[in-house]
Amino acid sequence: MLNEQRLQSILPVGAFGEVLHFFKRIGSTNAEALKLARDQAVHGTLVVADEQTEGRGRSGRSWSTPPGSGVAMSLILRPEEFSARQIGELTVLGALATAEAFERLGVGAQIKWPNDVLVAHRKAAGVLVESGWMEDQLLYAVMGIGINVLQASVEKADEFEFPATCLEAELGQRVDRLEVIQNVLEALSQRSMQLGTGDLITAWEDKLAYKGETVTVQGGPMDSTGKLVGITEQGQLRLQLFTGEVLQIGVGGQQLRPVDRS
Ligand code: BTN
Repeated sequence: MLNEQRLQSILPVGAFGEVLHFFKRIGSTNAEALKLARDQAVHGTLVVADEQTEGRGRSGRSWSTPPGSGVAMSLILRPEEFSARQIGELTVLGALATAEAFERLGVGAQIKWPNDVLVAHRKAAGVLVESGWMEDQLLYAVMGIGINVLQASVEKADEFEFPATCLEAELGQRVDRLEVIQNVLEALSQRSMQLGTGDLITAWEDKLAYKGETVTVQGGPMDSTGKLVGITEQGQLRLQLFTGEVLQIGVGGQQLRPVDRS
């Protein structure tokens, strides 16, 4: 069972979770964390919920966390602790730390560009970074991580969605959500030291799903299909078209899909 007392027993982990806000049920941990950040919550403040009723995903999609089933957590990050130039890397940091947490639990994971964590080519976790600005000054960022842990957290994929899985299904045994959160925070704590260095990008590229395979990137000005070559130092996807031209695609609202993977 995930509750405040058990969570407090593992906190803080490095700079994260000195302050904890735990909710049995909430709309969105990201929305709550943004509110707390506006009210001057300190760097590393952690918001966790057992159930999320209005979880937010990338590109306006929703993210479901039924009670007792998954991890819904958000961390408040203050730019005094990292450079505003590194905000684009926060999503990478979240996805990489989550993938590494899975590996510590014995589950191999890859990252589908830009930030979906896949296990056996199915989505098991996602990251949503939101931020508050005053003109061009970054005031705070919130890193939200949603993880499918137990079977109840896995939404049935409709034909437009990417297939999903959970840690329980992949490990073939029950998984303690507290252990998952602890592993994510430990990996985040270690990897956050590498913000702004090339090491984070290198580690991301090592875990990139579908490298060398044909993929389609949907949702830009037009769909692009080609061979996924890798990522640039700035985190853009390198896609080699059939003409030989290599496109560099920046992170926006796109969706990457493998082509003919059977
Ligand atoms: C995605 O893959 O589209 C990102 C999903 C992010 C979901 C998490 S769950 C915790 C945090 N609170 C939210 O409302 N969203 C993020």
